[in-house]
Amino acid sequence: MTQHDRLLIIDFGSQVTQLIARRLRELNVYCEIHPFQNVTDAFLADFAPKAVIFSGGPASVFAEGAPMPPASVFDLGVPILGICYGQQVMMHCLGGKVERGHGTAEFGRAFVTPQNERCELLGGWFQDGREQVWMSHGDHVSALAPGFRVYGTSPNAPFAITADPDRHFYAVQFHPEVHHTPKGRQLYANFIRIAGFTGDWTMGAYRDEAIRRIRDQVGPEGRVICGLSGGVDSSVAAVLIHEAIGDRLTCVFVDHGLLRQGEAEEVVTMFRDHYNIPLVHADESDLFLGALDGVSDPEEKRKTIGRLFVEVFEKHAKSGGGAEFLAQGTLYPDVIESVSFSGGPSVTIKSHHNVGGLPEKMGMKLVEPLRELFKDEVRALGRELGLPQRFIGRHPFPGPGLAIRCPGEITRAKLDILRRADAVFIDQIRRHGLYDEIWQAFVAILPVRTVGVMGDGRTYDYACALRAVTSVDGMTADYYPFSHDFLGETATRIINEVPGINRVTYDITSKPPGTIEWE
Ligand code: XMP
Repeated sequence: MTQHDRLLIIDFGSQVTQLIARRLRELNVYCEIHPFQNVTDAFLADFAPKAVIFSGGPASVFAEGAPMPPASVFDLGVPILGICYGQQVMMHCLGGKVERGHGTAEFGRAFVTPQNERCELLGGWFQDGREQVWMSHGDHVSALAPGFRVYGTSPNAPFAITADPDRHFYAVQFHPEVHHTPKGRQLYANFIRIAGFTGDWTMGAYRDEAIRRIRDQVGPEGRVICGLSGGVDSSVAAVLIHEAIGDRLTCVFVDHGLLRQGEAEEVVTMFRDHYNIPLVHADESDLFLGALDGVSDPEEKRKTIGRLFVEVFEKHAKSGGGAEFLAQGTLYPDVIESVSFSGGPSVTIKSHHNVGGLPEKMGMKLVEPLRELFKDEVRALGRELGLPQRFIGRHPFPGPGLAIRCPGEITRAKLDILRRADAVFIDQIRRHGLYDEIWQAFVAILPVRTVGVMGDGRTYDYACALRAVTSVDGMTADYYPFSHDFLGETATRIINEVPGINRVTYDITSKPPGTIEWE
């Protein structure tokens, strides 16, 4: 558990609770999100927050069993900020009134103007007389709890900003965490200043603390094995663990023969030569490509690759000195327990692991040093650890690799063509300075050959599709709007430089309805 001052976010099920955490982390404040069901008196005493935030949520305080915090939260003597449903909860618990939202529901942009004198929460606000905020609520507060006053109103929200400054209880009807409340960050900055946070959640501090924790968990003799995928998360986890326990860490990089051009060399060079981290480079391409021979069904490909990956990893883990710990690059969004209100409160935990299923099967304990971090924080930690920027900023690459970018049967010949075309496309993107604007870009080789003419001769070669998308989390995506000049130049380069391809198309499908990968 972290030694920093901690802020507790009690999650009442808002779609944007994670954004509150993001805003706070940007302000160098350590915070954790916990679903309201888990926040008991004992939890509060143990967590000892320096401040508390109540998130928004879809429920109504009138509903039977409406989500509530424990009453003791108001006796902790620490500042509390209630957002939207969190505001209604505060008023409901502290003696104010909430009304049902018949005809007064409000969604979208609103403008708030100041009321009464300024309160500390609003430093930097109202310099131009009003502020844009983002509303999204059904019910609303109709009478304030004793001790509260109004500090801001909007045409439809007379209690847009309320506070009891003596107790440092603040409650707002809008969502300061979303992009559409431009001064929201300032509001959070004011709140954490009031609470006395020193902004000590820096990557340098985190790195030292994480190293200490890994040493504590693994002990003086423990050995760790880490499956490297070549992606950012597992790489950062490996480098961090190596700093903590040195050569008691063994990394296994499974080359399934479905990697991109130069990928295996890049990963191996970085770990072995740059960091001197013990690395097993398991070239298992014959095994994987042999098993995939004649397989064209996408699900069968995925299952075959998954099964072999586990087998190979297990084999190398056993021969690697009997490690009892398995390291994984699990991130915070994967471990947050989200609150679902459909059919009553339930808890869902989603987990995305590269080597899912292994810990139970192998009876190993997990080391997950990135469990508290968001993706961009992992990148910042990677920088702190000296990983090259080119590596840190890499686009995601799927576990099944090029197999799912080669619809139909996979052959070594097709994979070679695909690798070369992909390298040209990525080179084009880098040359034009677009790499960091794009979530992911790659080429898929199509299972179709077309007729072309090159020089004076006829060609009968493969067609390929370029894919480049923008996305925040890979869940939804849109195609990247390259210029026609860029597309034309790229098509010409691929056809000139990659024997075996004579036609280039650009995939402009968004997700949904498409997916990012072709299979
Ligand atoms: P789709 O194709 O579902 O992909 O839109 C969303 C994101 O997930 C990646 N992806 C995978 N990553 N193992 C992984 O580690 C997989 O089996 C896998 N399948 C898709 C994909 O590259 C994109 O970033």
